[in-house]
Amino acid sequence: MSTDSNNNQLTSRPHTRLIATQVMYQVVVKQHHLKQAMLATMAHKNITPQDKAWVQNICYQSLRHHQNLSARWKRFTDKPLKDKLVAELLTLSMAQKYHLDTPDHAIVNEAVNTAKKLKKNWATGLINKVLKLALNDQSFTPNSEVETHNHPQWWIDLLKKDWPEQWQQILNANNQKPPLWVRIYDSALQVKGQQHPHLKNAWNLTETQISSSIELKQGQFSVQDSAAQYAAHILKPKTGEKILDACAAPGGKSCHLLELEPNIKLDILEKEPHRLELVKDNLSRLNLKANRLIEGDATQPKTWFQGPKYDKILLDVPCSAAGVVRRNPDIKLLRQPQHIKQLTDLQQNILLQMADLVKTGGQILYATCSVFRSENERQIKKFLQKHPGFQTIQMDIKLAENCLHGQQIITGNNNMDGFYYCLLEKVA
Ligand SMILES: C[S@@+](CC[C@H](N)C(=O)[O-])C[C@H]1O[C@@H](n2cnc3c(N)ncnc32)[C@H](O)[C@@H]1O
Repeated sequence: MSTDSNNNQLTSRPHTRLIATQVMYQVVVKQHHLKQAMLATMAHKNITPQDKAWVQNICYQSLRHHQNLSARWKRFTDKPLKDKLVAELLTLSMAQKYHLDTPDHAIVNEAVNTAKKLKKNWATGLINKVLKLALNDQSFTPNSEVETHNHPQWWIDLLKKDWPEQWQQILNANNQKPPLWVRIYDSALQVKGQQHPHLKNAWNLTETQISSSIELKQGQFSVQDSAAQYAAHILKPKTGEKILDACAAPGGKSCHLLELEPNIKLDILEKEPHRLELVKDNLSRLNLKANRLIEGDATQPKTWFQGPKYDKILLDVPCSAAGVVRRNPDIKLLRQPQHIKQLTDLQQNILLQMADLVKTGGQILYATCSVFRSENERQIKKFLQKHPGFQTIQMDIKLAENCLHGQQIITGNNNMDGFYYCLLEKVA
């Protein structure tokens, strides 16, 4: 990751703006995921790490503030701009002004040159005129909640309903650059940085603090948000226990469980084969051993479950990722309300299937990186109605809100991602 000032020095490299415009088009118009769009657009191109960092930075910032930035230039077009590639070039240019501090004259020149490279010569006059007006406009005020908060209206409405007091904090946090949290294996290591107040292995560090620490250079850490680090501590793995991580990739929480207690029989389940490879890489990087690595579907346990039943199951289910938007700003443009319904159906199905796999007296930890109540406490409520043999166990996450069932870490609290946990015990 480069700093903004480093990135600024690279604005004169024309191909980076061309690539960034193409990436933005892939995400906003073609609805591709940002990471995939960046990989695909930069593949086979002779591009330096600094160029990549510049493209990444401008695309992340453009997507974080997309609705506001595009509104700023749209005020100066006579009619809606049909050419979506040119539209993304203009939005990206506004991001250069407000999030990279690039001088106006450079922004206009660069945008015009990029349009020529994109074979959009017809648009150079329009870009020149619209950008000059938009860049000079001191009187811009957002005229909708969407332009103010850079989220779709349905999302804003849902947050207002779910978190009437915290919705603005959540939206603001979603639009920030995310902090860098690491999990350091040896809590005795002296590290310069900000330690989490309740998790002694969780540190909020800068890139420089990581690279200047000799111990950390030796690979004594994993990048993992502190909110996600609660999972292994809540589950408290004990020697000899048979545990399942049912939605495991890329394996951050599996590895943490094994770090806390290597003498567990940990089965690691993941549906996507390419993602299971990421788990394997992480286990071997950290020299950790799982009992079984299973490529399988948590909704189809008959195809892979061999018995006996588990003492504990971690269910970090697929979710909207509404709590980690600051790390994945493309979600705000890609996610649609109907996806929430599809996800909640899948989550409930996984929860129901896993209920049969845990032994009496055993526990399930249900987790999401979402702040939507429909994916969280309402899922548990629904589950408990169908499964009265389960009860919730009180947790004590001090920086979280208590819900009807479980606890919610609100995005931005102590600089953490938005995360939900509920610990369930099978009593009958
Ligand atoms: C939120 S991520 C898990 C993150 C992981 N626990 C960690 O800490 O690194 C959810 C994972 O569940 C996987 N998944 C989705 N549907 C699944 C299913 N039906 N069965 C098993 N895994 C599934 C996804 O591919 C994804 O890797």
